[in-house]
Amino acid sequence: MTPFGTVELTVYPYECDSFGHLNQAALLTLLERARWDALARGPGMDLFDRNGVWPAVRKATIEYRAPAFARDVLRVETTVAGRGTTSMTLRHVVRRISDDATVAEAEMVFVCIDRLGRAAPIPDEIARFLGPRPSGSHQPIQVPAGDVELAVDVRGEGVPVLFVHGFPFDRTMWRHQLATLSRVRRIAPDFRGVGDSGVPPADGYSLTRYADDLVAVLDALGVRQAVLCGLSMGGYVIFELLRRHPERVRALILADTRPQADSAEAQRGREALTQVAQREGQDGVIEQLLPRLLAPATQATQPEVAGQVREMARRWSVPGLVGALRVLRDRPDSTETLRGVRVPTLVLVGSEDEIAPPDTAHAMAQLIPDAQYHVVPAAGHIAPLEQPLAASRLLADFLSALPFP
Ligand code: MLT
Repeated sequence: MTPFGTVELTVYPYECDSFGHLNQAALLTLLERARWDALARGPGMDLFDRNGVWPAVRKATIEYRAPAFARDVLRVETTVAGRGTTSMTLRHVVRRISDDATVAEAEMVFVCIDRLGRAAPIPDEIARFLGPRPSGSHQPIQVPAGDVELAVDVRGEGVPVLFVHGFPFDRTMWRHQLATLSRVRRIAPDFRGVGDSGVPPADGYSLTRYADDLVAVLDALGVRQAVLCGLSMGGYVIFELLRRHPERVRALILADTRPQADSAEAQRGREALTQVAQREGQDGVIEQLLPRLLAPATQATQPEVAGQVREMARRWSVPGLVGALRVLRDRPDSTETLRGVRVPTLVLVGSEDEIAPPDTAHAMAQLIPDAQYHVVPAAGHIAPLEQPLAASRLLADFLSALPFP
């Protein structure tokens, strides 16, 4: 549910350029019309004015995806993608009603300012209208999985998509996809030993257990088949699930991952990192890994992403880190497993991924008949978090083209 709801607007001829396309500036105006229209139908257009603040645009990211023409009727869906003390992020998806084509997607950050132009806390009435904070405060459910309970974020209705995080991240690495892929049922667990999930001792981890945990999550939610979407270690666990439970897989999304086992040198690196985990804990581990995780552009322009990666690593328990490092060190080669895949598959990779680089991802995609392969520009090893709009668009396009079951 979104407080803004859905607004339908017609494109006027004067909003189009000489080729007949809705022009870029007019699209922005149209989004603004949609927001005010939603307020007029709900709490009133004077919602901000009567509370003594004004929503000033601080940042707008727009992807123009398909042309729209005069007389097209567009449906604008507006959701609250984030909320801070003084700011809110709205996400717009604009679709043409006649063919359901996505015309544009936009993410707009607003800051509430007072009459002197200073940032002001979001007043209570507006906070109530926006609803509970969408990320961070989303409460996971607890699902029994053998000897532990797993924390699982479950949102929405539609085709079930199981999001499997990497190392050393947690389910919140998918926060943008969980907030915005509103046409599918989003299911994102924390691995055992991580985040809000239970913590077995260090010998309670194996590739088999991780894979069976995912199946326990599907069972608990009554899901027979799901699209499995894994990043890096999430991909390795999905490869094991493919070997053990292929009938549960409807389609695959493999992000920043690779089928090869660790080399002898990489295995020695895992052992060294295990000692760091035991000696220095989570902070020691993430400080070693961080320089290779994010694209230079992410480090330069989105320092908050590095902050989130540190926070995710801090939510790993030490037994969870040690157990996962052993699993990563000993995992088998999955090349033959991937050659046997017969479900629709999307492979995506950050253009600057140093851990599972584009040439490795491309070779992996070629193992799988008809797999789609896409590079996400200006992203490193965590493309869905570093470039959420581009990555989510690839996911949305892939999911919407899936044949009905
Ligand atoms: C991950 O993101 O899960 C890790 O990079 C996996 C690995 O170290 O092989």
